[in-house]
Amino acid sequence: MKAKIIGISSYLPSRVVTNDELSKTLDTSHEWIYSRTGIASRHVSAYDELTSTLAIEAAKQVLEQSEVRPGEIDAIIVSTTTGDTRFPSCACKVQGAIGASKAFAFDVNAACAGFIYALAVADSMMKSMKLKNVLLIASETLTKFVDWTDRSTCVLFGDGAGALVLQSSDDETSGIIATKLYSNGDEEKYNSILSHNGAQNDYRGYITMAGRSVFKYAIEYMAMSMHDILNENNMTMNDIDWVIPHQANRRILESLCKMKEFPLEKFVITTENHANTSSASIPLAMRDAMYRGIVKKGDTLLFSALGAGLVWGSAIIRL
Ligand code: ACO
Repeated sequence: MKAKIIGISSYLPSRVVTNDELSKTLDTSHEWIYSRTGIASRHVSAYDELTSTLAIEAAKQVLEQSEVRPGEIDAIIVSTTTGDTRFPSCACKVQGAIGASKAFAFDVNAACAGFIYALAVADSMMKSMKLKNVLLIASETLTKFVDWTDRSTCVLFGDGAGALVLQSSDDETSGIIATKLYSNGDEEKYNSILSHNGAQNDYRGYITMAGRSVFKYAIEYMAMSMHDILNENNMTMNDIDWVIPHQANRRILESLCKMKEFPLEKFVITTENHANTSSASIPLAMRDAMYRGIVKKGDTLLFSALGAGLVWGSAIIRL
């Protein structure tokens, strides 16, 4: 049995904030941000536009596109690190909103690597629980969790959601081929470089980050997980049509390719208009590349991401 992607959609808040707009209130400039990150603009959610709002919009679109009725969904998995509330989960809000009455629903939180974690969870549950249809959504509103006076972090993030319908199929020629996950929660080494400082009594808090360390670990660990997953599946980069990495920052991806000898021309990069949308960035980039006719049915894709924890991982799928 293979878990096949039969539909993909995305939803981006309508408000677009450019670097020039940010430079009106912050000591920064388009040149500084663009040259260091490749980001020119980001979508920013309105005050009452929550992570679940984005997830529900993306869910409605993907169901329509894949011609799956809400009542046919067995499970809803939402990857998010910015849920509206600690509980109920975002996935339960989606379930109620779309009327997926027989689905069970839960969230997965693995920061920017969450989409790959959710994909691995969905794949194994579809096999072990014999599920037919799974709605997998990655939805994030990081801009609600940044300190808008901290120029070193707030310029990096944007909001958005991507949604997939995964369907079990006996056709072994396409679907999820492999997933590989890693975590290291060594507090001194990793949590100090990238975390959200909201404690139990201060849920909101802000993202804090040591940018240069994150840059270094993203290159090392994403390269490691891509090499591991390819080797373990007797594949090389020649078997991959497109790499769709977590879209943190163009410069990280360029350095990854240069230092670790990956072909940059195979990388889908959408940081320019999306910025870093955490776990939503891979499905958003994939949807964008499919919409533009770059990624096509039959292509073999390699996903890779790293996020706070640290958590990281890779996945290989064939469309
Ligand atoms: N505009 C202008 N100046 C800035 C800005 C800004 N937006 N942000 C920082 N600076 C200044 C700093 O204050 C510093 O000034 P100083 O020398 O007077 O102290 C100077 O620029 C250099 O700061 P650095 O942090 O050393 O700049 P660097 O060249 O490392 O670039 C950046 C910072 C872009 C954050 C880089 O470290 C990076 O890309 N890191 C990766 C982080 C990332 O993408 N995180 C995303 C979340 S994690 C994830 O998704 C995996």
